[in-house]
Amino acid sequence: MPTWRRLAQTSGDAVIIALDGPAASGKGTLARRLAQRFGLPHLDTGLLYRATASALVEAGERPDDERRAVSAARGLGLTDFDEAKLRGRAMGEAASIVAAIPAVRAALLDMQRAFAARPGGAVLDGRDIGTVICPHADVKIFVTATPETRAHRRALELASRGEKVDYAAVLEDIRIRDRRDSGRASAPLMQAMDAVVLDTTQLDIEAAYAAAVAIVEARRGQLSL
Ligand code: DC
Repeated sequence: MPTWRRLAQTSGDAVIIALDGPAASGKGTLARRLAQRFGLPHLDTGLLYRATASALVEAGERPDDERRAVSAARGLGLTDFDEAKLRGRAMGEAASIVAAIPAVRAALLDMQRAFAARPGGAVLDGRDIGTVICPHADVKIFVTATPETRAHRRALELASRGEKVDYAAVLEDIRIRDRRDSGRASAPLMQAMDAVVLDTTQLDIEAAYAAAVAIVEARRGQLSL
């Protein structure tokens, strides 16, 4: 099967796929698999906020220290993320705090747009990809699920990384993060007007992936790519 990137390169168009959604909705896994399927590079933008938060925490700084957070964000590269360290529960919470600082978001903007502008296009996942980073993305998917389902998945994921987890505490984290990510003034988590909603509450990962591929293929048909 020809990849979308190859099709895009011959047609001269870049193809951008944007996935947004709340914590543990499954958007990261779907983005990674869509990128593989369509031969596109993938950027998990949550890692940028997690890495910014991690730089602060490691230096003994508070995640809401704007000056330090902006400096940490400016110093980030797109490679060498230590995912084992960044994906823990505490770093998700700290990332959500740094992500609410408008100057931090501004410091990370160009890097994300440059990634999206790669020849052939890219897949990006986060909270504001379809609304702020790539408002002209060819495909926008808003991935969601109930807080209980997401907490269950996140608890399993953290346990598989060896973290001690308590379901009730993870659910509380998810609710706090939802409130902060959706309620902040700067680029809040929001469904883009032209996004297709993919509710994964009742879907396992294979069913969610099949649904995401169908959304992309339908859009590809509309765009005649
Ligand atoms: O997707 P994640 O759980 O790894 O993201 C961690 C935090 O980073 C999340 O709570 C909010 C923030 N974030 C953001 O504000 N904008 C993005 N595009 C990606 C993540």
